[in-house]
Amino acid sequence: MKKIITFCLSLFLAVAAHAQGVREETNFDHDWLFARYGLQADGSRIDEPASLERPDLDDTGWRSLDLPHDWGIEGPFRPDLEGYTGKLPWRGIGWYRKHFVVPAKESDNRFYLDFDGAMANAEVFINGHKVGDRPYGYISFRVDLTPYLRWGEENVVAVRLNTEKLGSRWYPGAGIYRHVRLVKTAPVHIAQWGVFVTTPKIDPKSATAQVNLWIENHRPANAECSYTVSLYELDENDRPGKRVATSDRHSLNVGSQQTGTDSITLEIPQPRLWSLEEPNRYLARVSVYDGKRLVDLYDTPFGVRTIEFTHDNGFLLNGQRVPINGTCNHHDLGALGAAINEVALRRQLTILKNFGCNALRTSHNPPAPELLTLADKMGFLVMDEAFDCWNHGKKEYDYGSLFAEWHERDLESLVCRDRNHPSIILWSTGNEVEEQYHPETGVARHLTEVVHRYDRTRPVSFGASYPSKSAVNGTELQVDVHGMNYAAGCYGGPHFYGEFLNKEGHEHLSGYSSESSSTMSSRGEYFPRRFHVSSYDLTQPGWGGLPDEEFAALDRYPAICGEFVWTGFDYLGEPTPFNSDNSVLLNYGQNASLKEEERRKLEQIEKDRPTSRSSYFGIVDLAGFPKDRYYLYKARWMPNTPMVHILPHWNFPDRVGQTTPVFVYTSGDEAELFLNGKSLGRKTKQPLEYRLRWDSVVYEPGELKAVTYRDGKLWAETSVKTTGEAVKLKLTADKCTLRADGEDLVFVRVSLIDSEGNEVPTAEPVITSTVEGPGQVVATDNGDPTCLIAFQETTRPAFNGLYLAIVKAKRGERGKLRFRAAADGLESAELEIKVK
Ligand code: GAL
Repeated sequence: MKKIITFCLSLFLAVAAHAQGVREETNFDHDWLFARYGLQADGSRIDEPASLERPDLDDTGWRSLDLPHDWGIEGPFRPDLEGYTGKLPWRGIGWYRKHFVVPAKESDNRFYLDFDGAMANAEVFINGHKVGDRPYGYISFRVDLTPYLRWGEENVVAVRLNTEKLGSRWYPGAGIYRHVRLVKTAPVHIAQWGVFVTTPKIDPKSATAQVNLWIENHRPANAECSYTVSLYELDENDRPGKRVATSDRHSLNVGSQQTGTDSITLEIPQPRLWSLEEPNRYLARVSVYDGKRLVDLYDTPFGVRTIEFTHDNGFLLNGQRVPINGTCNHHDLGALGAAINEVALRRQLTILKNFGCNALRTSHNPPAPELLTLADKMGFLVMDEAFDCWNHGKKEYDYGSLFAEWHERDLESLVCRDRNHPSIILWSTGNEVEEQYHPETGVARHLTEVVHRYDRTRPVSFGASYPSKSAVNGTELQVDVHGMNYAAGCYGGPHFYGEFLNKEGHEHLSGYSSESSSTMSSRGEYFPRRFHVSSYDLTQPGWGGLPDEEFAALDRYPAICGEFVWTGFDYLGEPTPFNSDNSVLLNYGQNASLKEEERRKLEQIEKDRPTSRSSYFGIVDLAGFPKDRYYLYKARWMPNTPMVHILPHWNFPDRVGQTTPVFVYTSGDEAELFLNGKSLGRKTKQPLEYRLRWDSVVYEPGELKAVTYRDGKLWAETSVKTTGEAVKLKLTADKCTLRADGEDLVFVRVSLIDSEGNEVPTAEPVITSTVEGPGQVVATDNGDPTCLIAFQETTRPAFNGLYLAIVKAKRGERGKLRFRAAADGLESAELEIKVK
């Protein structure tokens, strides 16, 4: 049934909207209609009818849904589709329509639609008129509805997306997969992203905030505007607190159909700096007057902090050296696909924070704005990345085909949208671009300049592959800070690769590892089954390295600012080493022999037809369950937290009498390992050694125990036991109340326990989860990269002892939910969730 929404103009969103002034920002996610044409999920085609934007189109048969929406994640997985984009049927043509009414009394105001991102090739129509298009699926954009709105009558907005003409090296998602807002303003108002706050001078007594603003005048006449700015402390729930500064009223004359700009400075006494431990924020509230009338009130959160990339002392935040202990991550949320969900994103960031990750690289595209707000609030550093390629594409129809026409506009949008976030310390214009080998093209320099048009307060960088060439060929001089992918051998010298830090002319340069490691593993899998990779953390692709190698390189060259590990989480697509993507050949630059070897591997993959559809690179698996190397990173990144982890598990009935290596990851410096009470020796970490290995342990069932020491004192201990058979399911939910807002989620970890309550790491029964009450299981997962059961299915096997269910409440319905997980022959488990 067609739904017509009349905007209740008192409903508005958090920080950016207030009761004074005209501005209101309304959530525009609900009650859209959707139809899919072109390629369908099963591979068939449906011809796209003409003029689906027509307001009088009969769309009664269309599917009704809420945004954010990703039609690709709905599956099914198809073995015939490429593994490198997740074996999901995301290619197609999607149409979205929404009917709404704007009251006649609003006809003096302006109405915009703000899209945080639409995948891809968006064309937007209102009442049949095209009001905008934006091909790059990761970029945020605004369309102006005002000229074609019918006041007091029904309006129809229609959006056409086309992912048939989209190339990607990972799962891109498909649809209006980020939020949409309806923005109402007076004819005179702050422009989109029209306030930029910098803090050019900071000392303990006071900080100078420079507030730059842009005011648009859509009236037919000149506007005698004026404005004031107040600064407030801002709490983590986005509530402004104490006012710390207020400006006088400033005048600004803005011509008809013009944008006027101005800038003022204010002093913040005793500024509370933004840092990783105390991510303090402020709010700049700009009040705009058209004549005497207050017409706009516009809020901009910002932070006060200094950043510096040095040549010989790494990265400094507020003058203190902070090693970048970062991870790269693609944008998907595992079983939820590309559709943004702030609760799921916060869970990801919390998991990263729990092992000491302090920095995020938004590889290789602009993130959802929620990621940056969470990073500001939770205390992460961010490298905000624009593109995966420049003019030279890596896939047909990727950004290479858009670059010439769109890169300046896209960079402008990215920087202007994001430049107030204190978490952002670097802009990245690209990743492993072909142009890095040709400094004479000057593309890197040009992009650096484009970014600096909009923000001079942060350095510009990109992630270079083959730093052995591009770190010394002059490309490195076209950016402010040089990012090096897989460059553990290039930082200093003497080394056959070159000497980034020591080269003449590099005295002012600072470098960091923009991508490191690419170690692969399947969680809990030690002697791997087909299409799995061992979790002993010793497997790397030809271009990659092991975590330990990067740690050693950084310890040798502490001037390097740190690393962004590939990757924090497993992601959909790119299932190297079972990846069929020919663009991996690009990773070898001009190295013909390695390319040839890789070509042979690719041919073998073609023959083997692996079912792999998600990556093996994560420190954490796709379901959010930590793999072993989570603890290797935790030991390094949280050195003062006592911690020890043993691998593998100790359930190997088939290995009795066989050599079964045991590794210990610890933040201690020594460990003693015991098998069934007998010492297997005490080992001390040697310089540049990060894991302790007992390679020749002979397996016998029982208990393995590790006792660790730091500076000779007891530090932490742990043990793993051979368990009995699984008899029962065990549930661990991340919370027990749920908001009925259609967004909140509960993540339930389901494990299997033996009669003594030990978790059985090898159990893989088929589990079904169900919900009674006002909610549903929206997705399940088990972290197995080869599993082709659609994520919406509630029945799937556990993988190495674990299963995940994601539960959502029905929008607007309250009460109690009973969640239940069951498996044949095992005692089931239940829990109650309150829906508020
Ligand atoms: C890098 C590339 C990443 C990813 C990674 C896998 O070369 O920049 O996007 O493909 O390899 O190891």
